[in-house]
Amino acid sequence: MLFNDQQVEKLVGVETPFYYYDLTLLERTLDAAKHAADKRNFHVHYALKANFNDRILSIIQSKGFGADCVSGNEVQKSIDVGFDAGKITFAGVGKSDKEIIAALKHQIFAFNVESIQELEIINALADELGEKANVSLRINPNVDAHTHHYITTGLDENKFGVPNSELEQAAAVLRSCEHINLVGLHFHVGSQITDMNVFKSLCVKVNEWKSWFEERGTYIKVINVGGGLGVDYHAPDENPIPDFEAYFDVFDKFLERNGQQEVHFELGRALVAQCGSLVSKVLYTKSGTKKHFLILDAGMTELMRPALYQAYHKIEKVGSDQYVKTVNYDVVGPICESSDCFGKEVPLPESKRGDLIAIRTAGAYGEVMASRYNLREEIRYIYSK
Ligand code: LLP
Repeated sequence: MLFNDQQVEKLVGVETPFYYYDLTLLERTLDAAKHAADKRNFHVHYALKANFNDRILSIIQSKGFGADCVSGNEVQKSIDVGFDAGKITFAGVGKSDKEIIAALKHQIFAFNVESIQELEIINALADELGEKANVSLRINPNVDAHTHHYITTGLDENKFGVPNSELEQAAAVLRSCEHINLVGLHFHVGSQITDMNVFKSLCVKVNEWKSWFEERGTYIKVINVGGGLGVDYHAPDENPIPDFEAYFDVFDKFLERNGQQEVHFELGRALVAQCGSLVSKVLYTKSGTKKHFLILDAGMTELMRPALYQAYHKIEKVGSDQYVKTVNYDVVGPICESSDCFGKEVPLPESKRGDLIAIRTAGAYGEVMASRYNLREEIRYIYSK
């Protein structure tokens, strides 16, 4: 249950919908991740794409994480929030010249480079600026993350990274690029991964490619294994903090590294998903011949994941009375699209206009993916300590 009775009382009259962020849970999650990583001498960069809310970012920055960015604006935001440029990486298949130039001027830690052409462009732009660009080469490891096909990234058919067939050529280009310094190799296989065997398979591929480069006389200082650790969308109260120990343990056990080599991670969802919920009010209840509908004042414009990926989010009535009867509702939003549905046949205590509904585990890829479609209002937030 998201709120206790006293908290529910405080919510009376608060304008909905809003994102509710539990900053205590955020800090506990960050501390658990940092502790498990530090113990193994692993470095974690927070993937801003999951949530770049200012308050959340400042807390993450204050805990000593680095920043993993995928746009010039994310790089700029990280710097504004106080992340050390030496702990910022810039990834993405489509970096514009303007974004590359800005990142070069900031002297960020590294670009995660996704193609041979991008290597050549970064080299040329660094030359013009009289800079040397640190890069990690993203290799597409062809590991199936067995997750939703929209969020699988490490297969041969995906657009990400340099395919294995082009690595020989990439290595030759790297040798010829005088304004590029290869610091590492980068991999990422997908998101919302809960099966640790996927990460084990990734380690096997990473070891192979690291040896491949080392056999050709290229020393790899940084092994960046990406992000992707999943969270428990079904039981946010029982499992509010992902098992970071088990996750890092896989890499500790299966990744081959010598004493000098650094292992970097880019975690997004695992750090911020559980601390956020979308809180909405029931506008109308309606019963069709076959269905009972709860029509909320939040829709796919505030949380797009169910409409876009058929993603499950736990839906609960805020401060629900245990003794009322249970009804199976289709919980829908106000947007003029049939996909604007948070859940079908969701068993909930019988509800009425004005009741509050919480959609849980919405801290990652929630607020950041919101849109103004239908000229909806700006997102509101409430933070709790
Ligand atoms: N590194 C790279 C290269 C990535 O592409 C991603 C996520 C991450 C790190 C962070 O992954 P995480 O630790 O958060 O799983 N909007 C989708 C998720 C898209 C993930 C994109 N890449 C969703 O709502 O499920």
